[in-house]
Amino acid sequence: MSMSPAAVGPWWQSAIIYQIYPRSFQDSNGDGVGDLRGILRRLDYLVELGVDAIWLSPIYSSPMADFGYDISDYTAIDPPFGSLEDFDELLAATHDRGLKLLLDLVPNHTSDRHPWFLESRSSRDNPKRDWYIWRDPAADGGAPNNWLSEFGGSAWEFDSRTAQYYCHTFLREQPDLNWRNPQVRDAIYDVMRFWLERGVDGFRLDAIWYLLKDPQFRDNPPNPDYRPGQPPKRSLIPLYTADLPEVHDAIEEMRRVVDAFGERLLIGEIYLPLEKLVTYYGRDLRGCHLPFNFSLLVIDWQARAIARLVERYESLLPPGGWPNWVLGNHDCPRVATRIGRGQARIAAMLLLTLRGTPTIYYGDEIGMVQVPIPPERIQDPFEKNVPGLGRDGARTPMQWDPSPYAGFSTAEPWLPLAEDFRSENVENARGDPASFYHLYRRLIAVRRANPALTRGAYRPIVAENDLLLYTRELDGERILVALNLGDEPASLGFMHPLQGRVLVSNFPDRDGEIIDGRIELRPLGGLVVALSGTGAVAPGKP
Ligand code: NOJ
Repeated sequence: MSMSPAAVGPWWQSAIIYQIYPRSFQDSNGDGVGDLRGILRRLDYLVELGVDAIWLSPIYSSPMADFGYDISDYTAIDPPFGSLEDFDELLAATHDRGLKLLLDLVPNHTSDRHPWFLESRSSRDNPKRDWYIWRDPAADGGAPNNWLSEFGGSAWEFDSRTAQYYCHTFLREQPDLNWRNPQVRDAIYDVMRFWLERGVDGFRLDAIWYLLKDPQFRDNPPNPDYRPGQPPKRSLIPLYTADLPEVHDAIEEMRRVVDAFGERLLIGEIYLPLEKLVTYYGRDLRGCHLPFNFSLLVIDWQARAIARLVERYESLLPPGGWPNWVLGNHDCPRVATRIGRGQARIAAMLLLTLRGTPTIYYGDEIGMVQVPIPPERIQDPFEKNVPGLGRDGARTPMQWDPSPYAGFSTAEPWLPLAEDFRSENVENARGDPASFYHLYRRLIAVRRANPALTRGAYRPIVAENDLLLYTRELDGERILVALNLGDEPASLGFMHPLQGRVLVSNFPDRDGEIIDGRIELRPLGGLVVALSGTGAVAPGKP
């Protein structure tokens, strides 16, 4: 008896990951902020949707200068989210449902209120002084070098008590840990073990490509391609502050920590060009299991560009390196706004039929849009520092139903709801077979039922004008994905007339349709077809 191919390989290769931004998923105690008990209440929704793993953005103790990415205690839950007991209950309930739970680990920096930093800044000879990156002022008294913060301004903050500067890649409230200090490394590995022992299934590693900085603190060179309107940090090439070779040693060490616990997952947050990104699989695949592939977040949404991207990514992957795709996250404008709702349906079909682990950002499965935030309700510190680049609009409360606070809370939520939440919400979407939600559900079900969509090879067929066609092939099973990104219907002939059956379409009336010869696509229409013949799939006359 042969094993089902979908069951071959570690769980995360056949999994679909769902990112929850905990502040915005479900409030259970009426304070307008989401929490762990809220997530617990909604677990069955995630089962219904069909995803396999949940990644929670940070839930640790935090002054919330960067909404949890500034951690003041790595092994405690921030009270508005709940308690450690709530966490354990959530984890157990997640596992009971056959789901995995991933945490967000933030190793590059802590909060400036973390006891480690309080000690470190207290005096130059404090034993934890070297846990952070401290430098003397430059000769003129200014910052030690020209490094810039991701959130605007210098990456250096002067601390008058000890008359030195500390380095912060993000906010001044987020001092960078010194990863050249072995005690720091051990402290973070202990944090990882704390959560792994509790049973978490892995981590998403925040800002991991920034982890080490040049020991000589050299100035970053100017970026000749910088254009006004881009984040100010882009005005320099981060030669000495990002993607240093030593980062890979640290990731290998983290990998050894998780590997001691069996099949746990390490995902890396890495915004780098593909050829650099793939180095984060590590020597002999000893790095991140999944270096997040963010290419679809920034791509020019056109059939040819998408096909080129997929082929390039596929060709750059190291042998055995498992691909992955991301369509949205809490740092980037909502896909339904970036490319429009109609295109976002096509994007869903792409995400869930490409080779590689897909990550779904909460709310994208109901087509949530980027919400305009009135100035008095801005929360994101990035928006406050660099207006126009804020991320609040992609972090608004999940839209569960048409009730006053969308079923998210019984009080005014911390961020405004989308204007259209009374029509665009889970409750309504459940009742509409043509909804975004049902498209996601059907795609997920079809992906699960057809191993070729998980483990099958990717073969490009057509990338012309608005048409994108490819197959996924495994052990004689062949699935054709045909996407029309254009506003005109399209009709495609093949050298050998195609035979097959539609597994899923974004127009549900086409599900189950028999394909006999040509492929007809509606405007902004897509089909996933189980092919029955064995003839080559080649576009052509008949
Ligand atoms: C990346 C996270 O995704 C983002 O939300 C955060 O602001 C920075 N890292 C700093 O931790």
